[in-house]
Amino acid sequence: MANILITGGAGYIGSKLTKFLLDEGHHVVVFDLLEHGSSSLESFTHHSNFQLIEGDVRDINSLKPHIDKADFIFPLAALVGAPLCDERPDDAVEINQKSIELLLENTSDNHKIIYPTTNSGYGTKSGETYCTEETPLEPISLYGKTKVEAESLIIASKKGITLRLATIFGTSFRTRFDLMVNNFVMEAVKTGKLEIFEGHFKRNFIHIDDVCSCFLFLMKNFSTLKGEVFNLGQDQANMSKLELAQEIKKQLPELVITENEFAKDIDKRNYIVSSDKLRLAGFEAKISLESGIKEMIAMARKVLDSSESFHRNY
Ligand SMILES: NC(=O)c1ccc[n+]([C@@H]2O[C@H](COP(=O)([O-])OP(=O)(O)OC[C@H]3O[C@@H](n4cnc5c(N)ncnc54)[C@H](O)[C@@H]3O)[C@@H](O)[C@H]2O)c1
Repeated sequence: MANILITGGAGYIGSKLTKFLLDEGHHVVVFDLLEHGSSSLESFTHHSNFQLIEGDVRDINSLKPHIDKADFIFPLAALVGAPLCDERPDDAVEINQKSIELLLENTSDNHKIIYPTTNSGYGTKSGETYCTEETPLEPISLYGKTKVEAESLIIASKKGITLRLATIFGTSFRTRFDLMVNNFVMEAVKTGKLEIFEGHFKRNFIHIDDVCSCFLFLMKNFSTLKGEVFNLGQDQANMSKLELAQEIKKQLPELVITENEFAKDIDKRNYIVSSDKLRLAGFEAKISLESGIKEMIAMARKVLDSSESFHRNY
């Protein structure tokens, strides 16, 4: 069994990945600044193979002992998403990009790094052509730019595999409601309405459990896939925002969908993505958008019910 270091492991992906890795019998150290607290990791705190370290990836002296003990490293710590990076541009460059440089300087050739980046690096493609790993990257947002830079550092180091992830959906121990599918479902359940802008813009989506399963697949096949970049998305979930809203309406028939012609998408993402390379390497996403929407509707109802009862009781 391997020793695994996950930076940013208290987050949306990291907390779910921790469960997948512990279930496989691995030893997991999460190193996280705990920007959103540590409740996402509560269910693992007594697990004998689990350790949580509160720390900042920019503080290499604190991180180094955990790097030294690790076989696999998942560098997930980041300021995630275009709006947050625009709010804190200096932190975005330091955390998303410079900390990866530091990490690489402090790893040996025996370390195995698996790095998730965003497929928003494909920028503003027409939405009609499938982006492959060969498609030139043209990130628009600071978030996209820092992630593209970090990815190229990892590939150049020959110590890692990078996964260009579609927008993730589904529940985790820190479910993010700012991600498009999760956000649309929450809004639809809460208000019965969805107002869509730039509705023709196309995106690609992937369930969080497929992402975690893919990480395990990459660990098992690391030596043959080292140095490679892969797209990971659900091929049936290449669709426009309006088509996504219609998918949600299939399960919430009362939903009223309107279009706002004036609001704009800040990172202008409009592309569809091919995951053929990863499929040929042996991994394919299995969880449908339909079942993810069902799961998110149940979660949104639970969150809204519990916050209503909270307000009733206090
Ligand atoms: N969620 C997606 O759809 C998606 C898609 C593509 C790539 N990614 C990448 O996956 C990674 C994780 O994303 P997520 O959705 O779990 O985000 P998240 O915001 O839920 O988690 C990020 C975690 O990083 C931690 N963190 C932030 N700054 C830190 C620092 N200086 N030192 C230590 N920890 C720090 C936060 O406390 C948080 O727990 C990111 O690198 C992100 O770019 C996510």
